Amino acid sequence: MDEAIGRDRTVAVVGTGTMGQGIAQVALVAGHPVRLYDSAPGRAAEAVAAIGARLDRLVEKGRMAAADREAAAGRLHAAEDLAELADAALVVEAIVEDLEVKQRLFADLEKAVGDDTLLATNTSSLSVTAIAGRLRLPGRFVGLHFFNPAPLLPLVEVVRGFATDETAATRAYETVLAWGKTPVRCADTPGFIVNRIARPFYAEAFRVYEEGGADPATVDAVLRECGGFRMGPFELTDLIGQDVNEAVTRSVWDSFFQDPKFTPSLAQRRLVESGRLGRKSGHGWFPYAEGAERPEPRTEAPAKAPERITVRGDLGPAEALVGLVEEAGIRVEREEGEGCLVLPGGAELHLADGETSFQYQREIVYFDLALDYAAAGRIALSAREGVAPEVLGEAIGLFQALGKKVTVIGDVPGMIVARTVAMLVDLAVDAVDRGVATAGDIDTAMRLGVNYPAGPLEWAALLGYRRAATLLDELHDRYPTGRYAPCLGLARRAYAEEER
Ligand code: NAI
Repeated sequence: MDEAIGRDRTVAVVGTGTMGQGIAQVALVAGHPVRLYDSAPGRAAEAVAAIGARLDRLVEKGRMAAADREAAAGRLHAAEDLAELADAALVVEAIVEDLEVKQRLFADLEKAVGDDTLLATNTSSLSVTAIAGRLRLPGRFVGLHFFNPAPLLPLVEVVRGFATDETAATRAYETVLAWGKTPVRCADTPGFIVNRIARPFYAEAFRVYEEGGADPATVDAVLRECGGFRMGPFELTDLIGQDVNEAVTRSVWDSFFQDPKFTPSLAQRRLVESGRLGRKSGHGWFPYAEGAERPEPRTEAPAKAPERITVRGDLGPAEALVGLVEEAGIRVEREEGEGCLVLPGGAELHLADGETSFQYQREIVYFDLALDYAAAGRIALSAREGVAPEVLGEAIGLFQALGKKVTVIGDVPGMIVARTVAMLVDLAVDAVDRGVATAGDIDTAMRLGVNYPAGPLEWAALLGYRRAATLLDELHDRYPTGRYAPCLGLARRAYAEEER
């Protein structure tokens, strides 16, 4: 019962829209006979034709043998009635995202199929436990959360509801694995892994913008070129659709009883209200009409590099900068003290730590966290309002001498990459401790599901739990809503790190 479902066994897909067609194609190409059912008359037959056309394109591109395509077509059928799904070993549901409708469907399905048929939902935002609520045998019910487009994206979240049997979860996991996907296991929580943990990637960027720290194009450029993310949150949500992205945020926030860790963005709300939904409506954060100019990120003009700097103490995650500075021909002196770079004029350059520059008597310029300082194409700096141009000039010149573009943002605590990463780490640690998923599965899910350059726990290894916790503590002082209060698990890990 806990092995993958045999390839000779039928897989049924109910709901043959975008996701249903994709999932059906995956099961079909894996070798199963596949039956499709949709409540809209003729929709299942249309899906059979659409999947056939997609397989034709694979043959044209040389990605599938013509004989395999013919064999697959022979295994794919539309069903007129749920009763025709009777011999299915697995039924995957991908119908409208409505709890009541899904519950009713599964109550009907349970009467049509055998007691050992594995039942799965592709829901992205509803509780798997709730959908199974009316089943006679809820132990065989799992979530199989595929990502769009299912034939291309490898990640599948295998979700255990409260009543799901371990054998059913394992069987679903093994089946998806045999289909060539990368399954991860997770508990039934709002947003599962990816949609839960990814929230701050969008929210922190929107907050920095809302607070006047930087404009959207600049925030995107910093997360991409300094943080190593493939796309920035503004351009990414324009692609996803502001309405779709906001709906996920609101659903996760509501499901967590409006926990401030997940509070949606007012600026994004305004976009949705005004119909600026992103690429699909021709305008979102950025304009997409013919000939519309895409705003450029803020980039500083060339400044003179200092001839020497002092490295004070240990720079921690930014230690690689020392070698880069030396390679650039800038003389480096070392001294003891709290980790920072000291510029010839006496100003100190600190890695973003959640504090602001204005609170100091001496000149402090912050630089943002990079995934890899050698590879980063851009570094963000922040300083207090009214800082002397010579001070900023030395800092800008230093990073420009390392071949980086430099962007100066407002005096926002935690800057952009550092605060985003600290929040991702916090949510990931909390999810691990609550048994949502293992650290390894969370990193895999975030790398594959949203293309992160490193999973949150890999980022944690780079940044350190203590630095992440301290940064969030500082933010919590500044914004005492509870959003930034480090979770207990992060505080515990930070403490353990200090003890070592
Ligand atoms: P869709 O609107 O493209 O397709 C839904 C299909 O279900 C339609 O063909 C509709 O006629 C059919 N349907 C509705 N009620 C039915 C019922 N009672 N019985 C049988 N068929 C019924 O929707 P889409 O985007 O494919 O989403 C389906 C499910 O997958 C939803 O639960 C959604 O949350 C989830 N999902 C969607 C993703 C996406 O990117 N679109 C990604 C991951 C999950």
